[in-house]
Amino acid sequence: MGDKKEHQLRSRAWFNNPDNPGMTALYIERYLNFGLTREELQSGRPIIGIAQTGSDLSPCNRHHLELAKRVREGIREAGGICFEFPVHPIQETGKRPTATLDRNLAYLGLVELLYGYPIDGVVLTIGCDKTTPACLMAAATVNIPAIALSVGPMLNGWYKGERTGSGTIVWKARELLASGEIDMSGFMDLVESATPSVGYCNTMGTATTMNSLAEALGMELPGGAAIPAPYRQRGHIAYETGRRIVDMVHEDLKPSDIMTRQAFENAIVVNSAIGGSTNAPIHLNAIASHLGVPLDNDDWQDIGHDVPLMVNLQPAGDYLGEDYFHAGGVPAVVAELMRHNALPHPDAVTVNGRSIGDNCRGIVTDLPDVILPYDEPLKERAGFLNLKGNLFDSAIMKTSVISEEFRNRYLSNPDDPEAFEGRAIVFEGPEDYHDNIDNPELDIDENCMLFIRGTGPIGYPGGAEVVNMQPPAALIKRGIHSLPCIGDGRQSGTSGSPSILNASPEAAAMGGLALIQTGDLVRIDLGKGTANILISDEELAQRRTDLEAEGGFAVAENQTPWQEIQRSMIDQFDKGMVLKPAVKYQDVAHT
Ligand code: FES
Ligand code: MG
Repeated sequence: MGDKKEHQLRSRAWFNNPDNPGMTALYIERYLNFGLTREELQSGRPIIGIAQTGSDLSPCNRHHLELAKRVREGIREAGGICFEFPVHPIQETGKRPTATLDRNLAYLGLVELLYGYPIDGVVLTIGCDKTTPACLMAAATVNIPAIALSVGPMLNGWYKGERTGSGTIVWKARELLASGEIDMSGFMDLVESATPSVGYCNTMGTATTMNSLAEALGMELPGGAAIPAPYRQRGHIAYETGRRIVDMVHEDLKPSDIMTRQAFENAIVVNSAIGGSTNAPIHLNAIASHLGVPLDNDDWQDIGHDVPLMVNLQPAGDYLGEDYFHAGGVPAVVAELMRHNALPHPDAVTVNGRSIGDNCRGIVTDLPDVILPYDEPLKERAGFLNLKGNLFDSAIMKTSVISEEFRNRYLSNPDDPEAFEGRAIVFEGPEDYHDNIDNPELDIDENCMLFIRGTGPIGYPGGAEVVNMQPPAALIKRGIHSLPCIGDGRQSGTSGSPSILNASPEAAAMGGLALIQTGDLVRIDLGKGTANILISDEELAQRRTDLEAEGGFAVAENQTPWQEIQRSMIDQFDKGMVLKPAVKYQDVAHT
């Protein structure tokens, strides 16, 4: 065993408990019938779970069913015993009403499995958007040795000689359809072209973001995020991941040793540098709170806002997942940050037992068009602003996606270059938006701001990805491609729209968004970080009193038991939309 620290495996309590031979026999006998012997189960070899997120229902992660075979080989090779088991599937694009509803459900299920079965360490098979935070949150709560394995992005999509990115292409194709430039079959051709292989979205959407951040947090082997799903290197790293988790169990290297405050600060910086999704603060704040690590949206602004965008991936840039991999992926980004002393904590430890700094130092990208130099970035200040005011206590804005067209229209007053005002058009959720956006009676022009509410964790159970709203077709035909959008929902990471989103508290929790009315004048000041309805405090208070007298902000009926359970105990987006009672259970494997 060399210098490995000997410590008691928790699986001994099931399979090798001299104090209770009766229970030991009962635990053992049923695990014998798929090929394990009693000697193996009682050999003191670590039992490693593979938390399998792939299934036919979750095609983004389905390739994990294949990769798990390589993980098993690695686990056996290193002397471990492997138990693979399913995680509640989450497919971003397949789940009604929204995949976010299921993040906490998958989390809860995985916590029970990791706590309640004889598992000494676990391989978390991550990929599609919410599978990554669900797995990391569960590992955080249970706190047994854990290592993440990405399924990897799809190959690049191509259409008529141009890269087409999954997710992102849908936004573009919708615009082309709305303006009559393509028909329905052209629309489908474009969308299909962006899905050429197994794997998750090849754009810098929430999946690439969260997989990159899992690596930046130290939870994946170096380079593990960016390898495309079908590449041979993906199978190799699956094998190495299986080998490594066995050693992590011997070393008792736990999530709380890796996902420290320092690791989260590193991840926030990497998120800005890669142009990460606005869903990242929700998920990282959630993981942190399950570890008891303080982290909030002020941290995201303070640590992340001024970091430049270095990774040139769609939707902000030009390239896709294969290019990101060939450019060096997360290690090349981290190394470039380190050359400019911009990675706050190079000493943070990672799953391979080395620091992130030691893993990445000195790496130089081979594709400087894809991973740009820190001092010649795609955009300056690529992080998020955390806006506040009488509309909400916290809402995120990614200012780096503000287009030239948008900037010239809204941020061009030389006396006041960072503020703009507009007339509010308020939609009560996505159905109202779709039904009425082209309604001429709303008289929407370029001086309007589009609001959507009732779309937060309580309002639209789980929170809808709907804040990025297109202007009416009539405005698009006039060349106005985006209006300011504000809402208590989320926005797809594959959309490049300059929205103010994740507003907390949401309308359904009686935040300021519940009180705004169509026609109100609203002022956004990006310099001051404020967002306010321009009415008096007295009138605002009166509106609140009136709404409370009507019984509060109306929300839709629950459709399933889980919707009701989650709505009764979920926190707001700025707090990671965690289940409030869950965060007090920390380090549960050791309690
Ligand atoms: Fe699953 Fe994009 S829809 S990763
Ligand atoms: Mg998404």
